Amino acid sequence: MRHLIDPMDLSVSEITAILDLAEKIIHNPEKYAHCCEGKVLATLFYEPSTRTRLSFESAMLHLGGKALGFSSPSSSSVSKGETVADTIRVVSCYADICAMRHPKEGAPTVASHFSGIPIINAGDGGHQHPTQTLTDLLTIRTLKGKLDHFTIGFCGDLKFGRTVHSLVKALSRYEGVNFIFISPDELKMPAHLFTEVLDPAGLSYRETASLEEVIGQLDVLYMTRVQQERFSDEEEYLRLRDTYILDTEKMALAKPDMIVLHPLPRVNEITPEVDNDPRAAYFKQVLCGRYVRMALIMTLLGVAGAPRLEEREKDTAQVVTQGYHCTNHSCITLVERGIPPKFVPIEGSQGSYKCLYCEHEAQKD
Ligand code: NCD
Repeated sequence: MRHLIDPMDLSVSEITAILDLAEKIIHNPEKYAHCCEGKVLATLFYEPSTRTRLSFESAMLHLGGKALGFSSPSSSSVSKGETVADTIRVVSCYADICAMRHPKEGAPTVASHFSGIPIINAGDGGHQHPTQTLTDLLTIRTLKGKLDHFTIGFCGDLKFGRTVHSLVKALSRYEGVNFIFISPDELKMPAHLFTEVLDPAGLSYRETASLEEVIGQLDVLYMTRVQQERFSDEEEYLRLRDTYILDTEKMALAKPDMIVLHPLPRVNEITPEVDNDPRAAYFKQVLCGRYVRMALIMTLLGVAGAPRLEEREKDTAQVVTQGYHCTNHSCITLVERGIPPKFVPIEGSQGSYKCLYCEHEAQKD
């Protein structure tokens, strides 16, 4: 059984096969309208969502399956103190596949360790959001015709923006992708994504605070919302939230074929006038999200017509269970009891370890 927790859980050829299937569904939806009949998707959303939860449910309904779940922890036994591990053991008895969103980083990983059904990470804290990445890849491939040799600018909250972290990881495996990271100092990309992902891949990237300065070089502009819910200091959020506002004047500086993506919801960072610009692709992106989730559900359930995913051996040889502790306050291991601590080496480092659940660098005991 395979789960999708991190974009790197899928090889490039598996991603290509899922995107190919999504395209086939787009061109012939009737053919797939019954292929998940009798199957049930559970959506466990411990954090608010419009698109992701509804697109998962819509995807399953369009495949002829059924969906159940909760859209906030207050309406489930989580409010009575039930752990993620117990919840997923219960849900495994009711459903065939599960999409989980959680404010704590690593929660879907914990779920996958206790689950009898495939787990899809639908966003864990500021960590990863691999199905938004599949959505973004399908949108880029559809509109630009390729996933290699282009320049992408990520703009806004690159510190907490999990969609950015996941897309950067995924794109690091395609040739000739040039990254420009546009953010204020306070919201820069986590350093480990440079040292562990982009540097080893030998890809070129730069950081800047000015959108105007670089917008003319971009083939894809990925705008993001400043993630209010992840700030501990409300004043800092208020100071930073409107740092970048994409408007028609800035669009005038961009290439005629640049596309603008945004995982949505938007707050102020793209003015409504930009929606009328043919380069604004964020609502097309939403539709891609439903088709790619249809393809992913089919694939993880192993239904006929879907690409076959090989079983993967878990690489446990390098996991250590003692000698370190995680200090990331957003990590699931710091709030839920009974999760065995696990740490793995940070590639390319001089003997440093990171938490297996949230990927933050671990501290020695
Ligand atoms: C994103 C998320 O939840 O991370 N939304 C989404 O899933 N489309 C982006 C965001 O909330 O800013």
